[in-house]
Amino acid sequence: MKIAVIGTGYVGLVSGVCFSEFGFNVICVDNDVSKIKELRSGKVPIYEPGLDKLIQKNSQAKRLIFSVDMKSSVADADIVFIAVGTPSKLDGSADLSCVYTAVDEISSCINKNAVLVIKSTVPVGTTTAIKKFLSDKGTDIDVAFNPEFLKEGAAIADFMHPDRVILGVQSKKAKKILSQVYRPLYVFNIPIVFTSPETAELSKYASNAFLAMKVTFINEIADLCESCGADVNDVALAMGLDKRIGDKFLQAGPGYGGSCFPKDTSALQNFAQKRGVNLSLVKETIKSNNNRLIRMVEKILLACDNNVKGKNISILGVTFKADTDDMRDSPSIGIINALLERGANIQIYDPSFSDQAKQIFSSLKFNDNAYDNCNEADVIIILTDWSEFRALNLQELNRRVKNPLLIDLRNIYTLPEASASGFNYYSVGRCFKKLKSIEEITTQ
Ligand code: UDX
Repeated sequence: MKIAVIGTGYVGLVSGVCFSEFGFNVICVDNDVSKIKELRSGKVPIYEPGLDKLIQKNSQAKRLIFSVDMKSSVADADIVFIAVGTPSKLDGSADLSCVYTAVDEISSCINKNAVLVIKSTVPVGTTTAIKKFLSDKGTDIDVAFNPEFLKEGAAIADFMHPDRVILGVQSKKAKKILSQVYRPLYVFNIPIVFTSPETAELSKYASNAFLAMKVTFINEIADLCESCGADVNDVALAMGLDKRIGDKFLQAGPGYGGSCFPKDTSALQNFAQKRGVNLSLVKETIKSNNNRLIRMVEKILLACDNNVKGKNISILGVTFKADTDDMRDSPSIGIINALLERGANIQIYDPSFSDQAKQIFSSLKFNDNAYDNCNEADVIIILTDWSEFRALNLQELNRRVKNPLLIDLRNIYTLPEASASGFNYYSVGRCFKKLKSIEEITTQ
């Protein structure tokens, strides 16, 4: 079995590498020459724990190769996966131009017995439309849809041990070849769901929108906790113990970001609106998550007596979540910019040493460790839930700062720990210390 994967972003690269780890011969293709050069020399263009070792191992075994030549790469492949980006257009809909460019390019050279599988997240109907597009060009091949549910930072484990594999197929041939590709997962009894491409396409959007809604729900409950003295971590624990609800994605924080939730909720909402279907919960989720940014900035300002001008702010973590260097739609971007607009002096430490972050905040100083980042700080703000922030020596940090104020937007510390450290501690949805209102501050 020869597999070609077009696109070496998170989904394409992780899928290709993991297929080679299953034992298949895989060629990963990308039109970005420098990226392919890097990959050939063993450098991994994304921060994903464990990926470098798998690339090295499977490249050495000659099961995994990288190429910029789309045409020759797909010519003798039995199965071709398309995993290129589908970013948001201005109206929120998915931009399918990269998908169609790739399909167009392979149309003349794909093996007529091969199966084309779309892995990019695409609106309902796209797989069928691609089949017709190819057929109109005289290329009659099977086209299937296979969404990817991997999370950044845990991508390899998610690929190797997924909760389920969804396969949207229209023919016995596509079903057969995809069964072979995913056969290594049968031994772990992973549920494999065969369905229509349309159902598979919608399953992907519905899953991401539901998770985004779950995060947003707990964030709104966190707001309520702050108003009535309840503790959102305990509320989440109590809710999560109900198996019908489940304990995942109930961690309150600064709002969801990343390359998928914001883009996929918008695309789903746009798709439904065009069909006259009111997805009011998805609409409210998007709105609530946008408002979350304003609320987080307000929370920080209130903890700083509504004045950050000239204050030294130590930011711990800027990536949209831990274990990634990805800054796409990270809540940190809006929060930091809002504080800069109000005259704050900001320094950043992020354990990924993200190049993306350094480009976005090119005028700011990045430090090499959390402690140096907090020297002379008036405020420390934890924005990302990196594990290493869980074990910071708070007493040592307290010795280094100018003013012991810690704002933890990921609820990393327990209230007793924070209280013992001598910091004024503010978190999300836990009323350890009640914030003054703007009115109270202004009438002081
Ligand atoms: C997501 C989906 O989980 C994955 O299945 C899909 O294929 C791609 O999109 P990813 O974007 O890597 O994965 O991150 P995820 O772990 O889902 O987190 C998304 C956002 O929600 C992050 O900003 C994260 O910080 C936030 N989040 C998540 C919370 O605020 N609380 C939670 O409890 C969980």
